[in-house]
Amino acid sequence: MLLGLGVVGGGVARALTEKAARCAQRAGVPLVLRRVLVRDLERPRLLTLPEGLLTDDAEEALATDCDIVVEVLGGEHPATEYIERSLAKGHRVVSANKEVMAKHGARLLSLASERGGEIFYEASVGGGIPIISPLKRDLSANEIGSLRAIINGTTNYILTVMSGGVDFASALRDAQQLGYAEPKPANDIDGHDAAYKLAILASLAFHTKLHPDDVYREGITRLTPRDFRYAAELGYAIKLLAIARRDGNAIEARVNPALVPQGELLAKVDGVLNAVQVEGDLAGRVLFQGAGAGALPTTSAILADVLDAAGSIAQGGRPSPWRYTSDIPVKPMSELVSRYYIRVEVADRPGVLAGIGKAFGDNGVSIASVIQKETDEKAQTAEIVIMTHAAREAAVQTSIQQVESLDVVRQVGNFLRVED
Ligand SMILES: NC(=O)c1ccc[n+]([C@@H]2O[C@H](COP(=O)([O-])OP(=O)(O)OC[C@H]3O[C@@H](n4cnc5c(N)ncnc54)[C@H](OP(=O)(O)O)[C@@H]3O)[C@@H](O)[C@H]2O)c1
Repeated sequence: MLLGLGVVGGGVARALTEKAARCAQRAGVPLVLRRVLVRDLERPRLLTLPEGLLTDDAEEALATDCDIVVEVLGGEHPATEYIERSLAKGHRVVSANKEVMAKHGARLLSLASERGGEIFYEASVGGGIPIISPLKRDLSANEIGSLRAIINGTTNYILTVMSGGVDFASALRDAQQLGYAEPKPANDIDGHDAAYKLAILASLAFHTKLHPDDVYREGITRLTPRDFRYAAELGYAIKLLAIARRDGNAIEARVNPALVPQGELLAKVDGVLNAVQVEGDLAGRVLFQGAGAGALPTTSAILADVLDAAGSIAQGGRPSPWRYTSDIPVKPMSELVSRYYIRVEVADRPGVLAGIGKAFGDNGVSIASVIQKETDEKAQTAEIVIMTHAAREAAVQTSIQQVESLDVVRQVGNFLRVED
């Protein structure tokens, strides 16, 4: 049964019809679409389904006699409740819903194992990129040290356009015109979407229950073309990274724009592409890259889950439950240790650097380089770019506050963490 027939649901329904023979061969049983739930029966559809398959009655759909429920409605509600009800009946559920899995995944996984069902969610992160299954299976013998990802295609597209000298508002408009960004883009540009996906990935990588509210989050709206230009001159690209890293008995979990060395593979992931880099003690560094969204790539991930579910039903196998083995605390952001890029607009007069240097020095933050950039002679202002050595976030934040209070400083234009 299919809940939803939009961009993704339409792709799944089409593939189930057009690839019926291949699916039956792979699963060992035929796959038959029994019911499709939509909101609006009058909406024109690109796909013609057999008579009587579509319904807008959720109760009727949920009462359908079936083995596998595919949820591609989107949003937290009523998707969570529909998934719960399907799992309570012992069904296998396949979902592409990152919000539901990030916020309620732990509860749904345990409900599934209690009732002898299973929930599959490969499509919830990275569209067509296989990453959930590798974390659950292929990398399961590893102690994962870190996971760094570009998992929001919309923001990666905007940042790629901005790296060519375009301002944020124009790059966003461009993304909206191409259909990459929603008319209300906050979910993407403020980093919520990436935080949901990071919560899902980190929970798997570290076998812990990480809620999206525990993920520190910064969006991309403060970035300017100047940041990209200065970063490039220093040998870096700017990417919105989702990072989870083990640090002793805690994990770092954050989504923020970061300077990434141009030579790193992640720095070269451009446009709407997504990539996830995982570092394990046995496998070393592994990079997964591909299309993070779109009807066909997402259908690829959903159908793989459907085939898995159908195969296990056909074999009469009991699903193996997912086990959380640890409860690792999240490290407070103030304790993060990183290098920093700081752009400061100052009065163009002697003695400015001494005051700024003192503010950092007093807080134990060591400066690696200071470069004077643009000078506006008319306004008598100059811009300087500071790169620090590794320093504690709390000390850098205090330094920035003190720098902002200096009378020679017009404003701290931006500060970004460096992912060396
Ligand atoms: N689009 C992508 O590239 C992509 C990639 C990865 C994951 N995902 C995830 O896949 C899911 C679906 O995304 P989508 O882009 O396919 O969304 P979409 O195009 O908006 O489609 C949503 C579908 O669900 C139906 N629907 C929504 N709420 C409903 C309700 N309360 N009752 C009955 N039907 C309802 C809609 O019915 P109507 O057609 O009648 O409006 C529509 O058919 C989301 O969780 C999304 O995050 C999407």
